[in-house]
Amino acid sequence: VRQLVKQRRPPGFPPGPSPIPIIGNIMSLATEPHVFLKKQSEVHGQIFSIDLGGILTVVLNGYDCIRECLYNQSEVFADRPSLPLFKKMTKSQGLLNCKYSKGWIEHRKLACNSFRYFGSGQRLFERKISEECMFFVDAIDKHKGKAFNPKHLVTNAVSNITNLIIFGQRFTYDDHNFQHMIELFSENVELAVSGWALLYNAFPWIEYLPFGKHQKLFSNAAEVYKFLLQINNFSQGRVPHMPRHYVDAYLDELERNVGDPSSSFSYENLIYSVGELIIAGTETTTNTLRWAMLYMALYPNIQERVHREIDSVLPNGRMPTLEDKQKMPYVEAVLHEILRFCNIVPLGIFRATSQDANVNGYTIPKGTMVITNLYSVHFDEKYWSDPGVFSPQRFLDANGNFVRREAFLPFSLGRRQCLGEQLARMEMFLFFTTLLQRFHLQFPQGSIPTVAPKLGMTLQPKPYSICAVRRQ
Ligand code: HEM
Repeated sequence: VRQLVKQRRPPGFPPGPSPIPIIGNIMSLATEPHVFLKKQSEVHGQIFSIDLGGILTVVLNGYDCIRECLYNQSEVFADRPSLPLFKKMTKSQGLLNCKYSKGWIEHRKLACNSFRYFGSGQRLFERKISEECMFFVDAIDKHKGKAFNPKHLVTNAVSNITNLIIFGQRFTYDDHNFQHMIELFSENVELAVSGWALLYNAFPWIEYLPFGKHQKLFSNAAEVYKFLLQINNFSQGRVPHMPRHYVDAYLDELERNVGDPSSSFSYENLIYSVGELIIAGTETTTNTLRWAMLYMALYPNIQERVHREIDSVLPNGRMPTLEDKQKMPYVEAVLHEILRFCNIVPLGIFRATSQDANVNGYTIPKGTMVITNLYSVHFDEKYWSDPGVFSPQRFLDANGNFVRREAFLPFSLGRRQCLGEQLARMEMFLFFTTLLQRFHLQFPQGSIPTVAPKLGMTLQPKPYSICAVRRQ
């Protein structure tokens, strides 16, 4: 086997663990792949390779190596792999899974401009987030301090912020069609890195097997696509060149480029991009807030310090604004530690080399799939002491001021880094402070949930119940 693998790895390619014939190392990724890959890096080095059923994949580990590739060689590592799954889902177009191409540049630019124009760049938008925060805490209040699973509420509230930018409207917390769509989409984020999905990428003919989790992935995607076709409703009353939201702005671009065969704007691509923006914005921020709630109940001392800071900066229950953020270093430290410790997107989103690359003396050919182990950055012993301990304190100096830490990459780095970072930071701060200002979080008597994550492309807590007891 060793001989076979040696032959398959091109000269100068990073070394790695021996694969099993045909399926390679796919099975090793079944449980906590980010932890397994970090352990492998201790044997094979920060940069090594694995075989995903014949797809030779380079894995980057540790802050130094990831910075070298994603930042210093930003353009070289800016592509996404040509995987059958991406082709099937979005024809490798849209935005998030799009190849590094004119199409990606056009779609990323439009999304960034829209986020700035309709969202985080606008003062009025902060008020809209605060309004959603109020809907959110009022809905929680309806549980009257009794135990409930916060997942659906958090998901709906968080996705409403992206919905405002994309469609110009929010969906009420009893809109079952919308909730169902998000649920299916979210299930796909989990399934996208399941063994079946990896097998499908290596052996696309399994599409014709009548069983396997990949079938669920496809049927979910088809249902989500059907829901998103209703986009038409949101563009009613549109006045060209006076966009009210992302969909309007996209239709302007589409019309401006009519007749240009090189244009990447199309109705189908609009639907893919809307879907990707919704899920990228919802799944991640929701998981962060769900972890934050869980950890506050788990560490009452930390929660108490958060309460004290909120009460001192926001007297008489005044609503938080973004300006208060600088005055709340402890809240900032807690949210940063949640992002570091919980690793919302542990392996980033699969990348690929856009040209031949040289890293640490290794040669990586153009088009090679690359996994960025962001978890290994947040648990990098060179940059963090006791990385396995949950401690917001590590983001504070001796005077209690917030300090930025270098090896902190929850939003990744380089050309493809998260385009929603600014929005996510606004949301996390406002939702978290509004929630903790009003409630004390605790677990129902005698039940402490596990902190073991549910695995998928994102890490989320397993379903848990919590009591939100009014503080005033
Ligand atoms: C990409 C994390 C919130 C939109 C990414 C990537 C990560 C990430 C790790 C992969 C970048 C790469 O390829 O290296 C997060 C986290 C969030 C968050 C931890 C919240 C706590 C958001 C929000 C939006 C968003 C609110 C917008 C609605 C995107 C998009 C991409 C992306 C569109 C793909 C960028 C591209 O391929 O060019 N995010 N994200 N994210 N994120 Fe986020």
